[in-house]
Amino acid sequence: MNDLLNIIPNPDPLPVASGWFSFLSYLTYFLHLLGVGIMFGIALFAVMGHIRGRKDENWKLFGSRMSKTLPFTIAFAVNLGVAPLLFIQVLYGNFFYTASIVIGIPWLMLVLLLIAGYYSAYYIVFKKESSPRKKSLLAVAVTVILGWIAFMLVNVNTLMMVPARWKAYFSSLNGMNLNLSEATLWPRFIFYIFLFIAIGGVFTALFYKIKNKEKEANLGFNFAAAVSGYFALLAVPAFVYFVLTLPAEIKKVLFGGSVFWLGLVVVFLLLLLLTGFLNFKKKIVGAALLFTAGLVIFVFIRNFIRGLYLKPFAEKFSVVSGNTQYGVMALFFVVLAAGLVLIAYLLVRTARETRSAGSQ
Ligand code: HEM
Repeated sequence: MNDLLNIIPNPDPLPVASGWFSFLSYLTYFLHLLGVGIMFGIALFAVMGHIRGRKDENWKLFGSRMSKTLPFTIAFAVNLGVAPLLFIQVLYGNFFYTASIVIGIPWLMLVLLLIAGYYSAYYIVFKKESSPRKKSLLAVAVTVILGWIAFMLVNVNTLMMVPARWKAYFSSLNGMNLNLSEATLWPRFIFYIFLFIAIGGVFTALFYKIKNKEKEANLGFNFAAAVSGYFALLAVPAFVYFVLTLPAEIKKVLFGGSVFWLGLVVVFLLLLLLTGFLNFKKKIVGAALLFTAGLVIFVFIRNFIRGLYLKPFAEKFSVVSGNTQYGVMALFFVVLAAGLVLIAYLLVRTARETRSAGSQ
């Protein structure tokens, strides 16, 4: 154990109590998952729209609507990713960054791939004269890139919890040590992908419920709701599979140690089932609300599991320093609130401009 503790870098002290950072990390991680889900679902729907749009006008409209929305959703998902990165680095930076060095090359490639994906998403929108085939191929490329980024995030997030595996770095210094021997890697990744498609589906259906005058609204609503329904249901066995692949000592705590956490897992699975059912019944508002509640619960479960993995290394956790800085924290909240107000204002202005441009 000492050997392992030695390879974990020493943490930096916290300027305020850890609870503040945990709260912000949970909140922003939840928002990130919501953003990524909407983005990934829309990327996949753009692919479907462009492929089927070659023969059907409504599918074509659906594809171009999804493509037009995609760059916005990428921007939101990425920005909402930076926020949890800030808090994870404050709380577990010595774990997270070490894991990112172990997989250094593909990890850094993530930025280049993201730029390529983002560029391609814009290319589809601005090069309107591109052939449907080219648009379909580009949309497929964006979706694959986003899927790969999700895979990389699962790699780094699973690797950060198992310092024993960081030793791979010493036997192969090339920074290519993906966490492929991790039993939960694939189930976790598959679960996230299913979850994202279900989130993307329910929010796309919600969008068409509001924009019900659009020519492709019927198709968009029914298709997105059905896809969300199927993937919410598929996420259930994927999550069970993920939980079953967890290390025995973690499963013991999750299933045998506390009724509370077992209860939360059961409630989460029930919410997924119910969301699937409501999607099939086309009760989209209810489905979106339940899904959002389920996602909140998932964030707690997922972070509880991370806590269990990291418990043996608690002495390497960041703790609050003697020199606290609550004033700076208060300033942070003021700036955050101002930023949120500004974003809301920009969104309202954009919606107003789009509406008036449409009516001219
Ligand atoms: C550069 C932009 C991004 C940044 C900075 C970022 C950052 C993060 C961070 C810090 C976490 C962990 C949060 C926590 O544990 O509190 C996370 C989780 C995750 N992100 Fe992102 N993200 C970005 C873009 C994306 C994209 C484009 C995708 C997928 C299409 C994605 C998929 C995921 C997934 C699947 C997880 C969960 C990983 C796990 O728990 O195993 N992220 N992201």
